Formats: sequence, C-alpha cells, structure tokens
Amino acid sequence: MFDLLVIGDANPDVLVHGAPDVPPYGQAETLVGGGVLALGGSAAIAAHGAARLGLATAFVGLVGRDAAGDFVLDALSSVGVDVSRCARHATLPTALTVCLNRPGGDRAILTAPGCLAHVGPEHLPDSADVAARHVHAASYFLQPRLAAALPAVLRAHRASGATTSLDTNDDPAGQWKLAPGLAEECTFLLPNEAEALALSGEATLSEALTTLSKPGCVPVVKRGAQGAVAMREGTVVHVDAPRADPVDTVGAGDSFDAGFLAGWLDGGDLTYALALGAACGALSTRAAGGTAAQPTLTEAQALAQIP
Ligand SMILES: Nc1ncnc2c1ncn2[C@@H]1O[C@H](COP(=O)(O)OP(=O)(O)OP(=O)(O)O)[C@@H](O)[C@H]1O
Ligand SMILES: [Mg+2]
Repeated sequence: MFDLLVIGDANPDVLVHGAPDVPPYGQAETLVGGGVLALGGSAAIAAHGAARLGLATAFVGLVGRDAAGDFVLDALSSVGVDVSRCARHATLPTALTVCLNRPGGDRAILTAPGCLAHVGPEHLPDSADVAARHVHAASYFLQPRLAAALPAVLRAHRASGATTSLDTNDDPAGQWKLAPGLAEECTFLLPNEAEALALSGEATLSEALTTLSKPGCVPVVKRGAQGAVAMREGTVVHVDAPRADPVDTVGAGDSFDAGFLAGWLDGGDLTYALALGAACGALSTRAAGGTAAQPTLTEAQALAQIP
C-alpha cells in the first residue's frame, strides 16, 4: 500500500533567470543571468516532495518515449517515487515548460503540452492495482481527457478507503469549470488565492472559501508569502508563511501540497498539515526550480510553526 498516489503531469522545466520582460526577436541572442533544467509539472513536483518527506509515493500519468520522458522518470525514481505504472506515449513528445523568472517571484510560463492532452483513464492503473491511503491529482486544466474521467477515478479510490485532493493550477483557457461531481469526490481542494477566486466565481477569499466548501470538501488556499488558509465545517484555519528569501518560487505550491498531505496523513490534524505545508513551500524556494530544495520531514518540522 502506498501512502500517496499522484496522478498528473511531469515535464522538464527550463528555468531562465534575468531575462528581459520582452526578449528581443530578430534572431537576437540575449545573455541571461542563469538557466537550470529541473523536474517540472505540478504532480511530479508534489510527488518528488512527498518522497523527500518519507511518504511511500507512486506517480502515474503519461510521458513520451523521449529524452524528456527519461529525464522526468529518472528524477522521480532518484528519490524513490514508484513510476512503474506511468504510461509512455509511443509517438508524442513529453510536455516541456520554459519559465522566465522575474526577481520577486513572478514568472511567465510557456508550456508545450505534448502528450499531456492525450492522457486519459486508459493510462491509469485500476484502483485495485495501486492501493494508496491518499490520491492527489494536479494540473487539471492541462489534461482535458483525464479531467472528464477524474470524478470516477477519485470515486473508485474513495470506495477503497482513500482520501483525495485536487490542485487544479491555472486554467490557460480561463474557463475554470470542474467536471460535474468532481468537487464532491475531493477531500481537499488545493488552489492558490487567484485560482480559488476563479474557481468559485467569488470576489473575496472569504466568499471563495464558503463557496468551495459547499460540495463537502475542505478548500486549502495558498497565499504565497501570506501563508495559507483553510475552511472546515465553517471554521477558518490560517497559517503564516515562515520567513523566506526566495531564489525562485517555482513549485512552492506543489511542495506545499506535499507537505500538507504528509501532515494530513500523519494524524489528520488540519492545523499541523497547514503548518507543514507552509514550511515545505517556503523551504522549496531556497533554490532554483521546484524540487532541488524540497526539505526532509525533519527540516520541515523544524521550520513549521506548529502551535
Ligand atoms: N515568498 C514566500 N515566503 C514564504 N513562504 C512562501 C513564499 N512563497 C510561497 N510560500 C509558501 O508556499 C506556499 C505555496 O506558494 P504559492 O502560494 O506561491 O502557491 P502556488 O501559487 O500554487 O505555487 P505554484 O507556482 O507552485 O503553483 C504558500 O502558501 C507559502 O506557505
Ligand atoms: Mg499551484
């Protein structure tokens, strides 16, 4: 039995630091401050973070039979994530992302989705073949075929006793529509603040929390340097962000997800889960990319502001 099964996206991230706001075209070569090749994809970063925290973790999704696919699966395997059930597309390429990072944390994200748009339920193992205590899905809007099937996929895992979570991340199409019945199958929704407002259609965080919790799930909203906030049974629980001096914030939300879920799986205390998530998010910003600075459980607990 795995502690955590992560369903979703994996791609190399090419992280560029110190690029001009609008890179000049006309075949102009522009020298920049730095470039890093890192494991990317919200699901992959979360799976990597969970394994760093000591959770027995499996990752499933779809990558290509190419060097980028080898790179992401090797990166996950190197920390002990089980990728043996991850599917590989025979012809389409693995997704690829280029991030142009600004000082202060903002970034432009260019993603070639490759085979991501093709991932569907046929690429996932049967819930009976991969038992897990918790199932987490990510990058919902980048995987439309998987998105349509997700309510049934999560329902099957819940029927086997798992709890579930969804980090939609951004919707590049700006539609922000979840499949009917999906929120009802999520124990936790893990958006950032902008995503929470867009998903709920509300103008304020407080209204968004109320609306997102209506289907019976617990919304957990990530707020960057302002920490995170959750609502359970009408009660709001908040955690401050530990102080950080970010190199970049790529993957902070996914590292938060890993920490939150590790905290949740270690006793089911929402306040502890939030504190561990915030510590993991903050610590992940110490290095370029989403995974290089993800903490061990001991490091995360040392920083977590546990009341
Ligand atoms: N500058 C920061 N200082 C301290 N903690 C931070 C900072 N940025 C992020 N964190 C921590 O990481 C968590 C998640 O970050 P954020 O709110 O940026 O999520 P996100 O927008 O989903 O990120 P992602 O780009 O990975 O999807 C925050 O709730 C916070 O606890
Ligand atoms: Mg996010």
